[in-house]
Amino acid sequence: MDKLIVKGGKKLKGEVTVSGSKNAALPIFVATILAPGINQISNVPFLRDINTTIKVLESLGAKVDGSGHVVKIDTSGINSHEATYELVKTMRASVLVLGPLLARFGRARVSLPGGCAIGARPINLHLKGLQALGAEIVLEHGYVEAKCKRLKGARINFDISTVGGTEHLMMAAATAKGETVLENAAREPEIVDLACYLNRMGAKIEGAGTDTIRIQGVSELSAANYEVMPDRIEAGTFMIAAAITGGDIKIHGMKLEHLDALAFKMQDAGVEITSRDGVVRVKAPKKIKGVNIKTRPYPGFPTDMQAQFMALMCIADGASVISENIFENRFMHVSELLRFGADITVEGNTATVKGVKKLSGAPVMATDLRASASLILAGLAADNTSEISRIYHLDRGYESIEKKLAGLGADIVRVKE
Ligand code: EPZ
Repeated sequence: MDKLIVKGGKKLKGEVTVSGSKNAALPIFVATILAPGINQISNVPFLRDINTTIKVLESLGAKVDGSGHVVKIDTSGINSHEATYELVKTMRASVLVLGPLLARFGRARVSLPGGCAIGARPINLHLKGLQALGAEIVLEHGYVEAKCKRLKGARINFDISTVGGTEHLMMAAATAKGETVLENAAREPEIVDLACYLNRMGAKIEGAGTDTIRIQGVSELSAANYEVMPDRIEAGTFMIAAAITGGDIKIHGMKLEHLDALAFKMQDAGVEITSRDGVVRVKAPKKIKGVNIKTRPYPGFPTDMQAQFMALMCIADGASVISENIFENRFMHVSELLRFGADITVEGNTATVKGVKKLSGAPVMATDLRASASLILAGLAADNTSEISRIYHLDRGYESIEKKLAGLGADIVRVKE
């Protein structure tokens, strides 16, 4: 297994370009199942989760050419409707193949994803929505068996905002008979990207990005080409990297409007954020101010940036109260940040961070994707050297992050453990 060695204290300077969005590419890859044909998807990041999704598609009979940047997916040969536990357990988002397989073949057998480090992450709302569309759902031996000759449009109201649930039902409803209305739908930009791709395939979806999405079912879809949106969480991670090191960087290829909640909080903390001709400049203040955050569904503060923001607050002037309202166990990075000398106390879903003058380098262990990023950020700010192990978590969601950070002047190398 690899680890990262980070020598902290360098102010990041220079320019970096953001890769395509993991959380947009994954559902778009899955949506290709809905129709036979060749889809050319571009701006795809080279990530472990993309490779896993490709393996799932190939296990169903698709032919995939490429594993990043430009990926050609030929779904004409899909001849199986089963996604196995082996594949689904490595990446929960694979469960999204259930709806498209059901829509295209009238049946599907997909392993239940199980939980993950940050929470139980049930899919009850996905299944409830598919049942509302007329699917017969049976759960047995850890698998979901679904059957339905032809899905029928329905009004669906989500108890809570769910990104995956909204994506799943948008895909399943695209070829259902009649109209489907998704109420209290999630509004994330990745959902808008998926809707744009589905409409390119011939779907009739309106309202993506709002909390009410209307889908007029069409009889069939066709393969389409598409360019994936930029990864807003990778972009936000670089913004924090500049702020936590006292740096001044320019970020290319990101959409600042996808990160308003983060940008406003960083500005409250004293960070200068400007955007000109599509390039975002992030300039750190002499001293970061403590700021409170509450994670919320989009457009609120993104839960996927909570760990990274906490790392920044560890060196702030003053205290910061951070409440995590999306996942029940997303403070795994706290115990590792304490090893850098941070001052953090956790009470339920609330962490109180008291800024310290300096973090000191330490050997730490990544526990989940975004926690790994927060440990790198702390290492960049700490004096002397840090070692971050189990960075396979990192490779799920960041394309060559150590190379990109080194390109900004960070002293960071990947070594074999
Ligand atoms: C997506 O996960 C993202 N993953 C997550 O990013 C992100 O943190 C999350 O949305 C929230 O923004 C991908 O897009 C691949 P949810 P998802 O359904 O769809 C509960 C990362 O780091 N819930 O919006 O699984 C659930 O337990 C990852 O890139 C139910 O109770 O998230 C959670 O508490 C981590 N029942 C809340 O809703 C359901 O049927 C939000 O989950 C579905 C969800």
